[in-house]
Amino acid sequence: MTLHNARILVVGAGLMGAGIAQVAAQAGHEVFLFDTRASAAEAAKAKLAQTLDGLTAKGKLTADVAAAALARITPVDALVAVDLVIEAIVENLDIKRALFAELEALLPREAVIATNTSSISVTALARGMQAPERLVGMHFFNPVPLMKLVEVVSGLGTAPEVAQAVFDLAGRWGKTAVHTRSTPGFIVNRIARPYYAEALMLLQDRAATPELIDACLRSAGFRMGPCELMDLIGHDTNFAVTNSVFAANFFDRRFTPSLVQQELVDAGFLGRKSGRGFYRYPEGAPALPV
Ligand code: NAI
Repeated sequence: MTLHNARILVVGAGLMGAGIAQVAAQAGHEVFLFDTRASAAEAAKAKLAQTLDGLTAKGKLTADVAAAALARITPVDALVAVDLVIEAIVENLDIKRALFAELEALLPREAVIATNTSSISVTALARGMQAPERLVGMHFFNPVPLMKLVEVVSGLGTAPEVAQAVFDLAGRWGKTAVHTRSTPGFIVNRIARPYYAEALMLLQDRAATPELIDACLRSAGFRMGPCELMDLIGHDTNFAVTNSVFAANFFDRRFTPSLVQQELVDAGFLGRKSGRGFYRYPEGAPALPV
């Protein structure tokens, strides 16, 4: 099985979906972009146009190549039949399952559905599907055009040839793909969750500010500190992932969600995407009382 010339539908035009659409279009695929939020797909395409202009201005792309990539992306207001769907919608099992049921009614039998879930069991997501073998995790990292790693996640029912086709595709897109089985948090989020949790406990104990924690971890060699990284991920998504990994680990206290996260979500301080989280954006000044 090959997906090298696949027509692709990206469902969810948020942070991740927009980045995935960009990478797929730059790799030469015809890409459709769908979101249930009115005009989100158009807005994502308009933002991508700016991103591609920026890359052209920096000399990383020629104007022709950028224009051709942009022209390959079509915002759509309904799901369309393609060879590969990449799902990047809200981190919620029931909503994702409902989407897969809709997709299966529409897609040809051989089409592949890849989910960008950060934490939900691919095995569980496939339950109830007519063809669970065609569901596979394709877990990108944020920001998608820059981050090389893609975890290709096989659930109990995923066909090996489907996982391999997605693995090969990620490689063609210049990514570093790895195979893993569907366990809570997969590889990176399994390790990253306790890292965020400790930072959140430090904050709750009022032992350090977000700036101090981030500065310490950066000087210890991390590219970003945990607070700025959570702001980049988005606290709504990050909190949903924390809850999901906590439940999937049978409520092991190492993975306990934090009230700090709950408060940020309740306030709508979702991080970069809402202009405020631990910091204010775009300037990056501290935003929380300590
Ligand atoms: P986001 O909140 O930026 O975007 C999600 C988009 O999905 C929104 O535009 C929303 O309107 C749309 N949506 C919700 N329900 C929908 C439905 N039923 N059909 C179509 N569109 C729908 O979220 P983000 O950050 O892009 O996350 C998306 C997925 O990617 C989640 O599963 C998340 O766990 C995963 N992910 C997120 C990462 C991050 O750093 N934010 C990293 C890796 C994976």
